This record gives sequence, structure tokens and C-alpha cells, in this order.
Amino acid sequence: MPPIELKKLSENVGVEVLGVDVDRLLNDSELPSACLEALEQNGVLLFRDLHLDDATQATFCKKLGKLVQFPLYPDPNVMEISFDPDNPNAEYFASNDYWHIDGFMDEIPAKASIMSAHVVTDEGGETEFASTYVAYDSLSGAEKERYTDLQVVHSFETVQRLTYSNPTPEQLAEWDRRGSRVHPLVWVHKSGRRSLVFGSAASHIVGMDVDEGRALLKDLEQRATTPDRVLSHTWSVGEMVIWDNTGLVHRARPFDRSKPRRMHRSTLVGEESIK
Ligand code: OGA
Ligand code: MN
Repeated sequence: MPPIELKKLSENVGVEVLGVDVDRLLNDSELPSACLEALEQNGVLLFRDLHLDDATQATFCKKLGKLVQFPLYPDPNVMEISFDPDNPNAEYFASNDYWHIDGFMDEIPAKASIMSAHVVTDEGGETEFASTYVAYDSLSGAEKERYTDLQVVHSFETVQRLTYSNPTPEQLAEWDRRGSRVHPLVWVHKSGRRSLVFGSAASHIVGMDVDEGRALLKDLEQRATTPDRVLSHTWSVGEMVIWDNTGLVHRARPFDRSKPRRMHRSTLVGEESIK
């Protein structure tokens, strides 16, 4: 098989993978490692016109790594991302439209997610991606030095409050149960690359005035996600996107939640804690 052919989707992040149909996806033994390498370099891989069913998606994803299990779904390798009332996790997707990293409460956050579009909206509902490697690399020398030792508190409550500003006692108890976690602001990856760790769960900075820390986190997020640094993907049914969850933040753009939008997501178990 020829090596994979890639076409840039934006200046800083994302490539389309050309020439891969379902047959090649499942049978080219060199494809999985080529995809993982391209993912590390480009952050996002787009495949058009695949129309995978869940079983086929899971078969391919297992070639990339171990899959997170979602026991509430018919195929536990695949979680449905939708606001359908019967979706058991719908409540937790409400804050997906703020920039975030998945699995920020896990000691080892997910490595990557693979998401296929089953039902798309006419308006809105794009998924956007911004590189947190680029975010680090474009800091000034003084900032890099100042941020080296900063630690950030992330919490489930911080995310949920963005959507539910008047929580019920039950919601507060549930959020509290899910706790919080401290991660360094600068992630020094095993590869030697450095990225910034921020997003909708980032509450404040340890040892810094809370408002000052929040303002700093907000500023870093804004600079990392200016339009020239963002890949905005408008979905067509049948597409599959893989995103690196370790060097990117992502978000969904708003859409009319009374209309169906269904994405089927598999997630690779993480391999590296944030340190
Ligand atoms: C997710 C997510 C974005 C989208 O599934 O983790 O953030 O566009 N999805 O649905
Ligand atoms: Mn997400």
C-alpha cells in the first residue's frame, strides 16, 4: 500500500487523509501506525465518505489502541453524542460548546477520540479544534519561564456551571462527587513537546489570587483560539474525524438542540499523565 496522502485543512491544525475507503481502513496493516504518526504531527485527521457502522468503527479503532468503555450504550465501544432525550449522557454534553480537553478529571486523560457523523444539522454544530502545542510555542520566553511551575485546579463543577448557572442541590452534590484535579499548566510530553493545559474545566491557579488566575487562563485560551489558529469542521454524514486529545482543545459550535444531531464517538485510553 502507498503511504497515506495528507491534505492540510488549516494553517496550524488538521489534515484530510486521502485515498482511504472502508476496505483500506480495515485491511491496510500499515494504516494504523501511519494514522497515529499523522495524528501526532497534525492533531486532527479527517476521512470523508466512510459511513461506518458502530461495529466497523470499533474494529478500526481497536487497531489504534485500547478503547474506553461506555457501558450505557448498545455497543460499549461507541458513545452517542446527541441531545436525544433517551441519550443517558445528554446532560453532560451541554457544555461541549466551550473549549475543552476530554477526560480532564482522569489521572491519564484520553489519548484521542474518533467520531463519525450520523445525523448533522443544517446550521451550526461544527466541531472546532485548536492546538495547545502551538499555544505553548507562541508564548514569549518570559511567559514560558513564568508558567513552568504553575498548577491549575480543574473541576467538573466549573464545566457544568457554564451551562447550569442555578444548580439544584442534587446537581451540586453530583458535581461535588466527581471532584476536582490539579494539573500543571505546562504539559511536558514524553516526546519532549510542550503544550498548555486549559479549557472549560480550569477553575483557578494554585497559590494565585483566584480572579487573577482565572484572567490568566482566559487570556491563554483566547490567544490559543483566535480564528487563524482554529480548524472549524463543518460535518457531512459519513465523515470520521480523529482528534488528538493531548495536544488540542476542541468544542462544538451551538446548534438548535431540538433538532437531531448524532455523532458516534470512540475514545482511545490515554497513555501519559499530564506532567
Ligand atoms: C466530545 C465533543 C464535540 C462535538 O464528544 O467530546 O466534545 O462537536 N464533541 O460533538
Ligand atoms: Mn469533548
